[in-house]
Amino acid sequence: MKHTIKSLHEKRSKFEPITWLTCYEYSFATALNATDLDMILVGDSGGMVALGYTDTLPVTMDEMIFLASAVRRGAPNKFVVGDMPKGSYESSDYDAISNAMRFVKEAGCDAIKLEGSGIMAHRAKAIVDSGIPVIGHIGLTPQSSSAFGGYRVVGRGDEEQGKLQNAILELESAGVFGILLEAIPPLVSKKLTETSTSIIFGIGAGKFTHGQLLILHDLLGLFPNFRPKFAKNYVPDVIPQFEADLALHGDIVEFGRTTRRDGLHEITRLAVEAFVSEVHANDFPNEIYSYKE
Ligand code: KIV
Repeated sequence: MKHTIKSLHEKRSKFEPITWLTCYEYSFATALNATDLDMILVGDSGGMVALGYTDTLPVTMDEMIFLASAVRRGAPNKFVVGDMPKGSYESSDYDAISNAMRFVKEAGCDAIKLEGSGIMAHRAKAIVDSGIPVIGHIGLTPQSSSAFGGYRVVGRGDEEQGKLQNAILELESAGVFGILLEAIPPLVSKKLTETSTSIIFGIGAGKFTHGQLLILHDLLGLFPNFRPKFAKNYVPDVIPQFEADLALHGDIVEFGRTTRRDGLHEITRLAVEAFVSEVHANDFPNEIYSYKE
């Protein structure tokens, strides 16, 4: 079943954790489509893991539409969120609405995500008023990280916690249906989640948020350059099951030809299901994958 804002809110009110992964192309999207995952983010992190840029800043709208359209084709049953790249929404409400609209009309996305608060909450409101659902993104915001002291944990100390709380109020007043917290200690996220009215998602924000996001390439151990503390590679967990499944079929070549369940597609599907199960069981993220308070 493809989610709607209503069904996502229902999960929130029933305390059922929401699962969310990034994806950037068709074949992986088909693997995600075959799981119980709730949502997909076509993140501008695709600029790094799929296009090879050293950070997310160079990513263009055209590139995002290219990636998002492929994901939509591969995952027709998933709620897909398009990530507004740097430069696509900051300068005016007009730009923000036009570019958000491209995600919906050209790529078939169900919602968009944008980074920041303050003036960016106004941009979020303009997009919401145009009829497009929006998720805000605060805490570590990679598109403006150099202005805020680089890639670092956010929310330690009263001043930073107050700023996060205000940002949530601004974004919720703007009408966003969800907010992503990135790189925030678990107990800080817990407080922010408890006082929110929207759906709070976390990446590197501990286990107390309503939803959990991970980068697909981290979950699969597919990105060679670095891996943040909060990223869990699920491949070692699922290889024994993959091998056991293969061992049930004597003729592996024939098994692969008829089912295509003999390779990376199946390993991806198993790894995603393992992530979904651990989030449902409240086992991910544990303290190994969380920042210290
Ligand atoms: O682009 C992306 O994948 C993101 C995550 C880092 C949160 O925005």
